[in-house]
Amino acid sequence: MEVIRTTERLREVVDAARGAGRTIGLVPTMGALHAGHRSLVERARRDNDVVVVSVFVNPTQFNNPDDLRTYPRTEEADCAMLEECGVDYAFVPSVDEIYPEPDTRVFDLGPVAEVMEGAMRPGHFNGVAQIVSKLFALVRPHRAYFGEKDFQQIAVIRRMVELEGFSIEIVPCPIVRESDGLALSSRNVRLSAEARAEAPKIREILLASRDLKAQGYSPVEVARMTEDAINDTGTLEAEYFRIVDAVTMQPLARWEDAGACGAVGCATVYCGGVRLIDNITY
Ligand code: PAF
Repeated sequence: MEVIRTTERLREVVDAARGAGRTIGLVPTMGALHAGHRSLVERARRDNDVVVVSVFVNPTQFNNPDDLRTYPRTEEADCAMLEECGVDYAFVPSVDEIYPEPDTRVFDLGPVAEVMEGAMRPGHFNGVAQIVSKLFALVRPHRAYFGEKDFQQIAVIRRMVELEGFSIEIVPCPIVRESDGLALSSRNVRLSAEARAEAPKIREILLASRDLKAQGYSPVEVARMTEDAINDTGTLEAEYFRIVDAVTMQPLARWEDAGACGAVGCATVYCGGVRLIDNITY
């Protein structure tokens, strides 16, 4: 595996691969890699001739400076994992390499980006669109891989791809969980022992919301009852729980209003001061 630090070298290797008729898979990450990332990389490895993984903590998608400052950075371990997974190129640029000048682009991401994470974290999705579009323009992969834990992010990236006219297949990959149900996240390392013991309740409560649906409650009722159940734990605090259409991300009044891809319940929950997200399909 070659560790690449410059956009110039990255262009060279991907242009050569494409010129030789090889397919390219890209896995964009912010590092602090765990088994969830590993599953994306393994999938990319199976699907493509050449695999590029970017490791870059993108400052433009953080709306909280403390979150950016304390975001875990584990480059050495990340590169070791990527090498073990058979990655061809790890792209690990500096902030100046990616943003030699400020990125002032504003994407018209529309309604998918206005709700939930978009409403709670102003500017976050525009920052995601900035970095992912830069990576797509640089690597021009055939396929790009994203975890479904960030369900709304995938919808936003699809919108960005449409806006920019990229011809790239977006491949969503299932959430990877700990054996007790907690969704893997780079932020889990911030959980205290007490908070870590409480965090699996998020998954339990989300699973119970499927039973509420089966009992005949509407999406709005299930969402309210689920949010209450999260807050009733006394240790978890729901920032939001919404049941939305899995493509448009718009809240559903009736289950029958969901399109072909169905409904998804998206939660953001504070656990011991750590912001965790998870979701469940119905
Ligand atoms: O999901 C993430 O880790 C990031 O938002 C991404 C897609 C790598 C862009 O920085």
